[in-house]
Amino acid sequence: MLVSATEMLKKAVEGHYAVGQFNINNLEWTKAILLTAQENNSPVILGVSEGAGKYMTGYKTVSAMVNAMIEELNITVPVALHLDHGSYAGCYKCVKAGFSSIMFDGSHFPIEENIEKTTELVHVAHNLGLSIEAEVGSIGGEEDGVVGAGEIADPEECKKIADLGVDFLAAGIGNIHGKYPENWKGLDFDALAKIKELVGDLPLVLHGGTGIPEDMIKKAISLGVAKINVNTECQLYFQEATRKYIEEGKDLQGKGFDPRKLLAPGFEGIKTIVKEKMELFGSVNKA
Ligand code: 13P
Repeated sequence: MLVSATEMLKKAVEGHYAVGQFNINNLEWTKAILLTAQENNSPVILGVSEGAGKYMTGYKTVSAMVNAMIEELNITVPVALHLDHGSYAGCYKCVKAGFSSIMFDGSHFPIEENIEKTTELVHVAHNLGLSIEAEVGSIGGEEDGVVGAGEIADPEECKKIADLGVDFLAAGIGNIHGKYPENWKGLDFDALAKIKELVGDLPLVLHGGTGIPEDMIKKAISLGVAKINVNTECQLYFQEATRKYIEEGKDLQGKGFDPRKLLAPGFEGIKTIVKEKMELFGSVNKA
């Protein structure tokens, strides 16, 4: 059964670890992440961007697939199904489709409008037992058409949004979606510490988890980050393993063209990186 992400992230803050949000794109992605979470006895958040939701034919399909998979794979660890960088309309669609968690990304609106819309969606989500994430500042780079300038969040604005009753908060601290450029300055820990000071035990979310060095991940967790989003890295592992399979000519041998064989190395690639991240984030055996 799906659960909201509130409880698992509260526990993560108390236990000084983070729960991974891994974005899904299709059946293979979902199955790989759910099985890895179960094998490692780790809570997990399945992230769905609006683009990926559309690709999978809509949020109802996603919700039905995830619910059925949890049952048929006998997944017993806590799993949240979460809309990633949701628009106002997207949030309502996911609430209706049976998601257990939503993110309203109002970071591109003036702060007053972000507050107004977040307030409304907090009520909607909580009335139905869903968790809700909000965003202040913006995550740099691009993810499925969501482009951010990468500004550092203003701690006072974080406090204002936190006070609306959101369950966890994404604050831009120099993090970027996709691969980090060579000249990346790193995470702004001073900003993170100031935000933490003002929002207390509210779980903080680190987007752009791909390619952040391990020591920075650990420091971020020590400063209150309890949810870390990873998307691109799963795609890169899938791509690399698939490329190897084809370059070695395995698709040309016997029934190597069977999609279940062709996609198997990429599937294993996702499992490998998800396990590595769960170990790094400290969520293994925390289900
Ligand atoms: P990456 O693609 O950089 O891992 O970021 C994922 C993310 O933040 C999803 O919201």
